[in-house]
Amino acid sequence: MPARTEHKHKPPPAFAEDHAKGASIGALHRQAEKCQRCDLYKYATQVVFGEGPASAQLVLVGEQPGDREDEVGRPFVGPAGRLLDECLHEAGIDRSVCYVTNSVKHFKFEQRGKRRLHARPNAGEIQRCAWWLGAEFDLLEPKLIVALGATALYSLMGRSVGLTKERGQVLRTMNGTPLLVTVHPSYLLRIRDREDAQKARQTFVADLARTKPYLS
Ligand code: URA
Repeated sequence: MPARTEHKHKPPPAFAEDHAKGASIGALHRQAEKCQRCDLYKYATQVVFGEGPASAQLVLVGEQPGDREDEVGRPFVGPAGRLLDECLHEAGIDRSVCYVTNSVKHFKFEQRGKRRLHARPNAGEIQRCAWWLGAEFDLLEPKLIVALGATALYSLMGRSVGLTKERGQVLRTMNGTPLLVTVHPSYLLRIRDREDAQKARQTFVADLARTKPYLS
């Protein structure tokens, strides 16, 4: 009988590494569910942590979950998420290979009657939540991060940076990871003029397409 080779049933190293990373991200997510680093947890339904493959080379960072994301518990599943998915598709990028997350992991809102209106997170909330974002990057070690809008840019750079000036450029985060700057998809949803909206969408798709040279 031939001797059994020990390595035969072991997964290849890349798979084993992804599996370990995935488990660590899962553990981080469970830890975040108990987060009280700022007061937003008191009002939100649940934490909305990042999601995507542990092997993702590309990480997309938004602002904070919206009303729908707060209900469902997943990032970018509302109107801005649908637009993001369409634009990624147009840019030739499959969302399922990306890790999608937010600068702030709880929904911040103002209650107006039955409606919950989006409220911008303040600098303290963004800074406290940057701890989670940093922990996600430490595990994922992405090749490229995309900052979707001003909040993500502030969180990732650790200081105020002009979005309009840097849009379409690749900067470096505080840890040296390449960071592509673009607008938030919600910005596109707010443009009323059809032609302007179409142009802005095309520019956003072109920004997203700039990620491709960074990905293998
Ligand atoms: N806007 C964001 O920034 N993130 C989401 O998850 C949804 C909307």
